[in-house]
Amino acid sequence: MEEPFVTFETGGTKTQKRKIPLGILVSGNGSNLQSLIDRIEDGTLDAEIRIVISNNPEAYALERCRKHNIRTAVVDHRDFQTREAFDRRMIEILADSKVELVAMAGFMRVLTPVFFKAFPMKIMNIHPALLPSFPGIHAQKKAADYGVRFSGCTVHFADEGMDTGPIIIQAVVPVYDDDNGESLAERILKEEHRIYPQAIQYYAEGKIDVIGRKVRIQGIPRSPEKPLYNPPLMNQFALGPG
Ligand code: GAR
Repeated sequence: MEEPFVTFETGGTKTQKRKIPLGILVSGNGSNLQSLIDRIEDGTLDAEIRIVISNNPEAYALERCRKHNIRTAVVDHRDFQTREAFDRRMIEILADSKVELVAMAGFMRVLTPVFFKAFPMKIMNIHPALLPSFPGIHAQKKAADYGVRFSGCTVHFADEGMDTGPIIIQAVVPVYDDDNGESLAERILKEEHRIYPQAIQYYAEGKIDVIGRKVRIQGIPRSPEKPLYNPPLMNQFALGPG
């Protein structure tokens, strides 16, 4: 029997914006974290970062927080005997910080059901590929090695699977013959910095509904119906009957 659809509506009203209390999980450089900080500071993202948690004490993301007076916590996974115990410690900190939405921003640990139960449909993740293609680590290198002509990035709600939750927004970039994992990662990262703040802003404006595994975003225009080709079509094909 098919499971009944579960519908989640994000808080807030359609007309009244509110500042979403955010908790951000990081492991490394934190350029996505920086893009969220920048959009909050320039007033385009209605959120406040209550806490940034890093599992890596050396993460440069922590330094970025220091520069912007953002509270941080290091929860080093190596100090915990089980994944569940690690998750429980993070849940405690997020709850103490009164976080509503958790954003994983280059967070390289797998979370357990304990964590998902604490924040049902309240955890976003950014992934450097067009999911469901290339889940898991080294997604950009896998895409370049595979020879796909387009890749991109995905913001989605995280669920218990590996990069499987409902998709909120995707950006597409071309992949060129001379790309490798690094050059592709650089092209994709620029788009990550655009779509992550946008996804969270949709949430802040109460525009996101999750129906089953599909996300509906209310009150926004459709993307133009404009196909992309890579390599480009020769004129006689581009202009021919469609
Ligand atoms: C980003 O490309 C992000 O999409 C990716 O790690 C990078 C972190 O960069 N995340 C994953 O691969 C998660 N599976 P950042 O620390 O500069 O934001």
